[in-house]
Amino acid sequence: MTTSDSNSAEIGLIGLGTMGANLAMNIAEKGFRIAVFNRTLARKDEFYASAGELTDQIVPTDSLEQLVKAIKPPRAIILMVPAGDAVDQQIAALRPLLDKDDLIIDAGNANFHDTNRRAAEAEAAGVPFVGMGVSGGEEGARHGPSIMGGGPKPAWDRVAPILEAISAKYEGVPCATWMGEGGAGHFVKAVHNGIEYADMQMIAEVYGIMRDGFGMDAGRIGSVFEKWNKGTLKSYLIEISARVSNAKDTKTGAPILDVILDKAGQKGTGRWTVIEAQHLGAPITAIDAAVAARNLSSRLEERKAGEAIFGAAPQALSTEALSTDSLEMALIAGKIVCYAQGFQLLRTASENFGWSLPLPDVARVWREGCIIRSTMLNDMAEALTENADLNLMFAPYFSAKLSETEGSLRRVVSTAALNGLPLPALSNALSYFDMMRTSRSTANMIQGQRDFFGAHSFERLDSSGSHHGPWKQD
Ligand code: 6PG
Repeated sequence: MTTSDSNSAEIGLIGLGTMGANLAMNIAEKGFRIAVFNRTLARKDEFYASAGELTDQIVPTDSLEQLVKAIKPPRAIILMVPAGDAVDQQIAALRPLLDKDDLIIDAGNANFHDTNRRAAEAEAAGVPFVGMGVSGGEEGARHGPSIMGGGPKPAWDRVAPILEAISAKYEGVPCATWMGEGGAGHFVKAVHNGIEYADMQMIAEVYGIMRDGFGMDAGRIGSVFEKWNKGTLKSYLIEISARVSNAKDTKTGAPILDVILDKAGQKGTGRWTVIEAQHLGAPITAIDAAVAARNLSSRLEERKAGEAIFGAAPQALSTEALSTDSLEMALIAGKIVCYAQGFQLLRTASENFGWSLPLPDVARVWREGCIIRSTMLNDMAEALTENADLNLMFAPYFSAKLSETEGSLRRVVSTAALNGLPLPALSNALSYFDMMRTSRSTANMIQGQRDFFGAHSFERLDSSGSHHGPWKQD
């Protein structure tokens, strides 16, 4: 760094891993001069060398001190380091070098509880801190991610012009929005990831029916996904499912899907969503099932042992029993239910944590740039704009869609069950739908049992107050 670089950058970034490097390039490309630092200096050099004509917009620095010096005050510095302790360590090293109104922005996949804690610590110290969820993977970071911000609104407003400029755009509208105080942005990102898990799982489930039930090869399955991507299901995840299905292994020439081991990984954001939903008493059964399915997938040896004892299930289905059209309809129904659950969780969290999560904006910010981007999210944004308090399944547009498609979901789930094809997320979505359309549930039995063994009391249909059953008469 030369002295002419002092105070010349509009923003700084620490952490030039894949996401950080791509985000930095994106910022530079949008015309903002950016100072960068990476603990391993060789990585910074490599990044700078790869920046091509964008190097004019980039100030590489060799220490935190140099980084701070390179940025115009009041400064804004993005952290793109691995979530967890690394973030705390980075804040501890950086904060003493900063002025009071300099802003630190954590753009990693932080657990929102950590963000709440960091926000409270920053507030107590009188310094600004923003926790920001960024979605869209490598490509998104480079060309336009979806950004979910949290923290003090004035701090967000200060950097919003840069964040909006680098974000994805849906018909010109930036996908970068302030969600609320403290960990609100990272919470919304976690729910995004929970939905991502369920959306992916449901697609994998219908893939399973096509592969094992119908005996279709990967290429034919890819064509079905391509067709679906022209209709209601049009989305990034369906698009990449087609591409994954069509891709060939360079080593064997076989469809790549046929050589990928069936054990799913996870970094933990889906699990966080499910844990939080349990704490809040907000059922997200499809997401829950998707996280469990990833865990079950990793128990390969146990699954093999199970198959040795019980034999593989008789999976073959005739296309007369089910058609790929009915799979498409079932997926539409499952997707509506899964997103309805995600938005119900956001609603409950918003009430419980004293946020005012702008649900229509959440749907809007997810329309482009992020992994779950889809056409349907625009319909969800419209439904939530009309009534943000309504379960999405009951919004007129989606209740009509569900009425059209629930029969297919029922047929797919029941046919698959009879043939030993597991559909954990789709079947949980169906049960959720059925519970939510049943005014007289079976919880009267639960209440009777609770009162019987623990005198927990119950309410009556015909009078108010708390009551006990006639158990002593038996
Ligand atoms: C995104 C993704 C991104 C990511 C996660 C999930 O929105 O860009 O959600 O954050 O791929 O790391 O990964 P796991 O499947 O490993 O939990």
